Amino acid sequence: MGPSLATVTVTWPDCLDHIRWVTLGSEGWRAEAGGTYGATAKPVQGGMPAHRDTLTPEQIAAVAVFERITYGGAAEAETLAACGVPTG
Ligand code: HEM
Repeated sequence: MGPSLATVTVTWPDCLDHIRWVTLGSEGWRAEAGGTYGATAKPVQGGMPAHRDTLTPEQIAAVAVFERITYGGAAEAETLAACGVPTG
């Protein structure tokens, strides 16, 4: 449950901010970053769980890459680099 991810790279032009959002979730973001999120300043409405206790930083970066490429249509090589994921 959540907003469409088709515009995920519009909301989060910088992958590191996207990673921070997934790490903190709605309530963590509200506490640390304020009442709006993303480049489009969406009001935090709640419901996005934090993932810092359930996923490693590497796993969170990997799901951000997945969302950006699969739903956002972003280019693979640039996305891996922007999200800090090594290509091996
Ligand atoms: C690792 C898993 C997840 C990732 C990577 C992820 C990613 C995101 C992203 C990128 C957004 C912002 C989208 C936008 O506004 O353009 C978002 C928002 C949201 N997500 Fe997730 N999400 C995850 C898991 C979940 C789960 C499990 C739920 C619900 C059970 C959820 C519910 C929501 C809700 C309700 C919002 C809007 C929050 C608000 O307005 O405060 N997400 N998520």
